[in-house]
Amino acid sequence: MSSPNASPTIVGNLLHEAYKQFHEVDDGTVATYIPELGKADPGHFGICVMSVDGDCYESGDCDVEFTIQSISKPFVYAMALTDHGRDMVYSRIGVEPSGDAFNSIVLDQKTNRPFNAMVNAGAIAASSLIQGVNVEERAEAQMAVFSAAAGRRLRLDQSVYRSETETGNRNRAIAWLMMNFGMIEGNVDEILSLYFQQCSILVTARDLAVMGATLANMGTNPLTGENVFEIGCIQDVLSVMFTCGMYDYSGEWAFRVGIPAKSGVAGGILGVVNRQLGIGAYSPKLDSRGNSVRGVKALTYLSEELGLHAFNFMNHGSHFLKNVLDRDGGGAVTPGV
Ligand code: DON
Repeated sequence: MSSPNASPTIVGNLLHEAYKQFHEVDDGTVATYIPELGKADPGHFGICVMSVDGDCYESGDCDVEFTIQSISKPFVYAMALTDHGRDMVYSRIGVEPSGDAFNSIVLDQKTNRPFNAMVNAGAIAASSLIQGVNVEERAEAQMAVFSAAAGRRLRLDQSVYRSETETGNRNRAIAWLMMNFGMIEGNVDEILSLYFQQCSILVTARDLAVMGATLANMGTNPLTGENVFEIGCIQDVLSVMFTCGMYDYSGEWAFRVGIPAKSGVAGGILGVVNRQLGIGAYSPKLDSRGNSVRGVKALTYLSEELGLHAFNFMNHGSHFLKNVLDRDGGGAVTPGV
């Protein structure tokens, strides 16, 4: 097992090995509840790693575009935290894993809040907090932030956006339930338009790796040097990704893979290794929980081989206490004295 400080050839070779091992896995099904998503090529499979130093390693179909879907949620959550602050956002969106499916029409009965920003309910509440004088300005604000995180101008898949709008009645029910409890305010159709648009932004596995590296790099894009997110919100975003990002697989993901992650129903997975790297994976066929089958296998393999798990014994110990002691001139206290 090698450490996260593995040499580039090791990382590159591991990506090719992951591709070789999993590209013929045929389990799962392509999502069709949003009809346009059913047109994806089930054979596509790409894996990309981007370090916070801007080093990129990839294997397979890393240039194939697909809609970001729920992987948009951490980034809109970061926008809401940046614009409104932690306390206000927390009053509208919880931080608890729901244990339910991503599209459950359910709020936390104790608070009437959506459980967290990674399920549809919490994401729609986060969309309602995007600032702007009209829906066009608000939509451009999210497109600009996503593009800055990816390091290139992204664009909307109009066909998927139209398909989501025409079939998104479950999300409409979620939105009106939250309106009833005051968890969202304003025009429901406009809020849902923003949510459907954020989900319909086209990305590649490489874009996801860069966006993940931007989060890992405390909000600054390692390729462009642009600061995209306020550093104070990164801890909150990565914490909620770690506990909620893979829905009702989140517990097993934390146990087996151990990195903040977010999946999307078009077949993308974003992984973040704090202060080290972002991982982007894409393959359209999903398991019963809505996570990419090949993507889950690939990130699990990389975590095991590179020792990426947050609590892996290979991770060098935190220097937090040492930093504090150094700053305060030592002063260790002998217990009981
Ligand atoms: O709202 C929806 O159902 C989709 N636009 C997003 C769901 C999604 O990506 C779930 N992730 N696995």
